[in-house]
Amino acid sequence: MNDTPLSAKIKEAAAFIREQFPKKPEIGLILGSGLGVLAEMIEEATVISYDRIPHFPVSTVEGHASELLLGTVRGKTVLLMKGRFHMYEGYGVDVVSFPVRVMKELGVHTLIVTNAAGGINASYEVGDLMLIKDHINLTFRNPLIGPNDNDLGVRFPDMSETYDRSLRKVAHEAAGELGIKLQEGVYVGLLGPNYETPAEIRMLRTLGGDAVGMSTVPEVIVARHAGIRVLGFSCITNMAAGMLDQPLSHAEVIETTERVKPKFLQLVLNIIPKLEA
Ligand code: HPA
Repeated sequence: MNDTPLSAKIKEAAAFIREQFPKKPEIGLILGSGLGVLAEMIEEATVISYDRIPHFPVSTVEGHASELLLGTVRGKTVLLMKGRFHMYEGYGVDVVSFPVRVMKELGVHTLIVTNAAGGINASYEVGDLMLIKDHINLTFRNPLIGPNDNDLGVRFPDMSETYDRSLRKVAHEAAGELGIKLQEGVYVGLLGPNYETPAEIRMLRTLGGDAVGMSTVPEVIVARHAGIRVLGFSCITNMAAGMLDQPLSHAEVIETTERVKPKFLQLVLNIIPKLEA
């Protein structure tokens, strides 16, 4: 990023968004690979292409759109990112997490993150949804490195309850009402873009991981730094490398998200009205 201070960039991006959509969004959503369909749940959406927003990059990966949608879902004002940025695309960790800073500036109090992930836990099945209980940052990147702006958050943020316990309870209740099976586990975030080796998956299992993916961790770190509550879901799109006698492919990931999306949509729709500031 250039020499403009981070706080000024955040304010410029937020001001631009506010011009298009003056209402204050309460809930932020970041949609992962193939999950953009969740955007359909927004009523009368204001759509803003990322390339029009000051300091926003554009996402390049197949299966990802590049749009911000603002509107109402079940009576709540939401800001939804259809398409996110990944470090494997070449973006810095500060760029990847920048939109979360802008969400905070606009007034978002709760962030829902979704991703596609490989299942490491042998009891999981392809197509399961996993509520993220905690994460392990194996990207070896951190969006908070550098001088700390105390107006944005503290120097050493607490991460002992990164994925809010009361929100997780809400998610389980919502899933129960709908009869949707909801796993709960630890998400391991890696840089990618190659899928892992079987030896790496065995290591991640030993470390306590239940699912593995290439996103989410930077955005969640910034959200916690900013004091935004976080709820996270992984769609288990495939069993991780070496668990089944078959290669991994992006096509399988997209195929599974296609299959799971009605269930995912129902769950998120049922959760949103239950989220209070
Ligand atoms: N590994 C890493 N990222 C992923 C996977 C996986 O198996 N599936 C979907 N995203």
